[in-house]
Order: sequence, then structure tokens, then C-alpha cells
Amino acid sequence: MSSKRMLVTAALPYANGHIHLGHLVEYIQTDIWVRFQKLRGRRCIFICADDTHGTAIMIRARQEGRPETELIADMQAAHEKDFAGFEIAFDHYGSTNAPENYELCKQIWGSLRNAELVREDDVEQLFDPEVGTFLADRFVKGTCPSCKSVGEYGDNCSKCGATYAPTDLIDPVSTLSGATPVKRSAKHLFVQLEQLHEFLDTWTQCGEHLQSEVANYLKGHFLGKPLRDWDVSRPEPYFGFPIPDSPGNFWYVWFDAPIGYIASTHQWCKHNGEQLEDWWKSSETEIHHFIGKDITYFHTLFWPGVLKAAGYSLPTFVHIHGFLTVDREKMSKSKGTQVRASKYLEHLDPSYLRYYYASKLGPRLDDIDLNLAEFAQKIDSDLVGKVVNLASRTARFVDGVGLASEYPHDGGLFAAAAAAGEKIAEAYEQCDYSRAMRLIMELADAANAFVDNTAPWTLKKDPNQQVRLQEVCTIVLNLFRQLCVYLAPVLPRLAQQCGRLFQVDITTWEDSQKLLCGIMLSKFEHLMQRVDLAKVNQMIEESKETPAPATNEAAVTPASSEVPTTDSGEALLAEPLAPTCTIEDFAKVDLRVARVIKAEEVPEAKKLIKLTVSLGGDTTRTVFAGIKAAYTPAQLEGRLVVIVANLQPRQMKFGLSEGMVTAAGAGGTEVFLLGVDSGAKPGHRVH
Ligand code: MSP
Ligand code: ZN
Repeated sequence: MSSKRMLVTAALPYANGHIHLGHLVEYIQTDIWVRFQKLRGRRCIFICADDTHGTAIMIRARQEGRPETELIADMQAAHEKDFAGFEIAFDHYGSTNAPENYELCKQIWGSLRNAELVREDDVEQLFDPEVGTFLADRFVKGTCPSCKSVGEYGDNCSKCGATYAPTDLIDPVSTLSGATPVKRSAKHLFVQLEQLHEFLDTWTQCGEHLQSEVANYLKGHFLGKPLRDWDVSRPEPYFGFPIPDSPGNFWYVWFDAPIGYIASTHQWCKHNGEQLEDWWKSSETEIHHFIGKDITYFHTLFWPGVLKAAGYSLPTFVHIHGFLTVDREKMSKSKGTQVRASKYLEHLDPSYLRYYYASKLGPRLDDIDLNLAEFAQKIDSDLVGKVVNLASRTARFVDGVGLASEYPHDGGLFAAAAAAGEKIAEAYEQCDYSRAMRLIMELADAANAFVDNTAPWTLKKDPNQQVRLQEVCTIVLNLFRQLCVYLAPVLPRLAQQCGRLFQVDITTWEDSQKLLCGIMLSKFEHLMQRVDLAKVNQMIEESKETPAPATNEAAVTPASSEVPTTDSGEALLAEPLAPTCTIEDFAKVDLRVARVIKAEEVPEAKKLIKLTVSLGGDTTRTVFAGIKAAYTPAQLEGRLVVIVANLQPRQMKFGLSEGMVTAAGAGGTEVFLLGVDSGAKPGHRVH
């Protein structure tokens, strides 16, 4: 076994959304690996942080009317709580918005400049004149230039699959404000990755640092042609670090995010009297990154390139896993299968999920499917039925007498299981947890066969068999403890409970080779329950969210191209759906497109704005709308809205209101007027 230090990271979760069961595939996988290394006696630290920068955070903070720093602090606290709940034990959890990170970014940037890897170029992008920000691809919608499908995002068409630049869209609309974006040119900074092509060829293809399918993917998709320059800057306004030698520009979130691995290590070093160089610039340290397959490019091309150019150690291995599906489908908020970590913890034992994922995770990139029926069945049959049962069927029978002073003959069970330890360790080492779990369950089967054959509950009833009973229990309990050692990386809580039962903690993998005899046990505490299916169902029910209307959702939680995940953040609608209505019911409400021709303050009213809207021709209406906290009159004049045109007029203190403007959101500053795609005219009915 190598004596090198190990630094292990999991990807830094975005601060714009909560941790869900998909993320947990990764954090549980990594935590198991780290716990395994520690149990084997390796010097290993587990480093992570929140990934806090980018447009999505900036927009969200604006919408919530508070500073970004407040938003990211709240999210970080929520993330850390979720991780602790799942017993994911980081040695340090930092933030990319830390001074240490800024320092490192500046230093690494300097190295890239010195190596002449940075180039400047003007980039024409769409700009939202109302919000005052450039629009990433996913913040623009419009008509596909190729098939003319409407409402497509700025990067590719969901109908015909065409890819294009947002500037190619016909009738583009900003999803942030509904405004028509304008083209604006700005200076961007690029890293010329092509200069590192030869190095990246060697590093990715040498067979030592990547899974073979990843190496092949890179060869097939990127390395066969010149590598594209990488745009690492964004013009203001942007929530991130300003680039010191390029006023008005910020580093793109993906530039400072991986540097966060180093910065977070630096913070750990400061707390622990260690030198950063020993961890990031030493051949005596192995660096292991665990990530999901969606962020392969960043970690296997860009990041090694940056590290190489800046003189840091390269990753020893980038371990890449597949995505979580639920019943073979993408997680879905409406089906309730995108379950938040915190929601899971309200209902179920974290050990279940840790074991279930372990039983499914292999060394390849295949997606992992969560099937809740299988989940319950696996926990019940493996953990409760095979492992925990060994103790619950025997521990009480040695109350008061303890374990036999010598280990009785067991037909070679303990020795065989001890010998299996190396094979199990090898499976853990290779991230082949499903094989490790299978090997462990085979040992559990053998132990259970012994229990069935010796039937301690029968021995208990026979006064002449009390010595034999103690012998049998001594064997079974030692086999149980051995399994707990092997399972300790996956089930730290069970390992602790086992330690309490024997009054001897499990501290190293070697404990699996050692027998315990002649000791008293402490009182048996219940170890693990069967899965309560009612709770599983309740968790799914409570995770169901009503999909927000498309225009609104895009405005609340933009799915930026900078956020290449399945996450769209938070849907704000927790409101249950109203009872079914018929099409006739719906037709009673006459919804019309209207243009705001005048918007005026109502000085005496705290919440109201007085709108004069046109329904086409000479038809106008006066409507008082409670949107003052969210819109200024200037933002409203000229825009299209949707109004309830046949609402019974209402006499208000300030005048007669002849309709209602439709909007989504919770009220106050969180009000989002419904808009319509361009082409619609005042007076058009909404069907
Ligand atoms: N912030 C970036 C990572 C920066 S690392 C310098 C990011 N964040 S994320 O929150 O979207 O995802 C964090 C990790 O969780 C990623 O490795 C991602 O692949 C993983 N997963 C997110 N959803 C997942 C599933 N549904 N299934 C499995 N893993 C998933 O990416
Ligand atoms: Zn199209």
C-alpha cells in the first residue's frame, strides 16, 4: 500500500439550489471512498466547498432583494446541514467566494498570462437593456432560425436540434425581463487551450488518470481537432471576482470554481498547521477528484491544463460517475422524484440510501437507477434481514455472561471471512462498491446459515445447553462485528453502534481480522428498522411540485448555460393545484392580451399602480394593480400584459378598477407579470 498522502474532492455544489438525491450519489460515493482510505490507515483529507459565483446567483439575489453574500451564506448552511445528515464527513468545507480563492485565482491567472496563454477578443452578445446585463444562452428565448419553432432557448432548438448562437434567434426575448435584447460587443478573455494540446493528449491517453471510456470520449470528441479557446471572462455586472488586469471584467464561474479545490485545501492547511505546497505541489500527495459525467470537460481538459501551466500537481485520478435516474427516468419535480436531501431525512434513515447507492455503484459511468421498491426490498433483506439480525438474534442471550473466554470452533467461518477482506478492500479501492457489497452479503449468508443450523433460540430453552449457547453467540457476534468493519465505510453509524455494543470501537480495517472473546457486551440497542413504505410514499408525495408556467419559471430560476445540470433551482410554487375545472368553466374567464399605454403612481396607495391598457382599437380599461414593489411605471409603459377582461368592475378608493392584470409569484417584490411571445396583439384572446 502506498504511503502517500491523499487529497480527495467531490465537485463543489452550486449555491443556487438545494442538495437532492442526485447530488448525493456523488457525495456518498466519495465519502465511502475517503472513509475506506482512512480505515485502511491512509493519510487522507476530504475537501469540498460551495460554488457560489455566476449569473444565476446574481439574478436570484436581485429577485430576492438581498445581497448575493447573504444568499450564498444561507445556501451554504443548508448544504452543510444536509451533508451532515447523510454522514458525509468533509475535513474542510469552504466557499469559492473566499479571499484565499481570490488570491489563488490572481496567482494562477498571472501564470497563464506569463505563459502567453491568454488572448483578448471582442464578443458580440445579447444584452438586456432593462435588467442591464448580458444574457447567457439560456436567458434568451426566441424562434429557431432553422425550423421556426417558437420559444426555443438561445443555444439549441428542442424541436429540430439545431445549435446556434443566441444572436441567431428570430425575435429574441430576454427571459429575465421580457425585453427585446440588443446586440452589444464587449471584450472577453480566452485561454488558448490548443497550446497545451500535446500535453493533454499524453495526460488523458496514458491510461493512468481516467477511466478508459472517458479517455476514449475525449479522444473522439475533442482531441482529434484543435482545442477551442476557452472564454473565461464575463463583463460586468457579474457576481464573481474582478479580473485585476482587465477592468470591468470578471472571471467566469468555471474559472474560479476548480481553483476552489486548492483554496479550500489552503483553509484546511491554515487550521491544521500544514503547508499548501505539501498538498498541491508535492509528488508525495495523490489528488483524487470525484465528479459527475456532465462536468467531464472542465475536469479533464481545462483543469489539468490550468494546473500544468500554473505549476501545480495534476490529478492522480478523476473518478467519474453516471447520473441518477428514478425508475429509469430523469428526476422530475412534478412526479416528486427530485427529492431534496432534507426531505428524505425527514422520513428515512440515511443509512438506507448509503447502502442502496453502494450496492449500485460500479467503477464505470453507467447511470444509477433508483427504484423505490427495490430500495425497500434491498434494505430489508440485506441490512435488516442478513446483517443486523445476526446481532438482534444473539446479543440478548449473552446478557450477564458476555462472550466465551476462548473462540470456539466455527468450521472456519471467521477465518474465511477474514481472508475475503483483501478482495473486499480491492473492490472498494476500485470504486466497485457493488462488488464489495456482494462479497460482504455472501459472508452474511454464510453466517446466517450457521445461525439457522445452530438455532440459538432453541438452545436458550434448554438448561443443559447454556455453554453451547454462549459459544454459538460468541461466533455469531464476532461474525457480525467483522461484517460491520467491512461495511464501516458505507455504514458509519452501524459501525459506531457495533463499537458501543462490544465496548470496543472499530477504528481500522484490521479489526476485521481480530476476534473478541471474554468480554461483556453492553445492553443491546436497536440497530435498524425495516423500511416503512408509507414513509417512502409520503416523501414522494411531499416532493411533488406544481410546475410553474414556463415564462415565470425561466424568470425565477434561469437555467443558465453556466449551470449545466438538471437543476433549475427552486420552483417557488408550493401551492397545491386547484380542483379540476371544465373547459366551459375556463371559458367564463375572458383573458386578453393588452398593451399598457399609461402607468401612473397612486401616491396614497402603498402597493398600487394605476394602469391604462389598450385592448385594441379604441377599447381601453383602467386597472389598479398591486405591483408597485416589483415594477416602476417606466418599466410598464409599452409592454404587453395579460388581463382578465371580464372581471366585475370594482370601486376602489382611488377609482374604478375594470379588470385584473395576471401575474405569478408570492407578492411584494416577488411579482412576475405574464407576458406573451412577440406577434400577439392587444385584444387577442387567451385560450
Ligand atoms: N458547481 C459545479 C461543480 C464545480 S466543481 C469545481 C456543479 N455543481 S452541481 O451542484 O450542479 O453538481 C454537483 C455534482 O453533483 C456534480 O458532480 C454533478 O455531476 C453531480 N450531480 C448533479 N445531479 C446529479 C444526478 N442527478 N446524478 C448524479 N450526479 C449528479 O456541477
Ligand atoms: Zn428548430
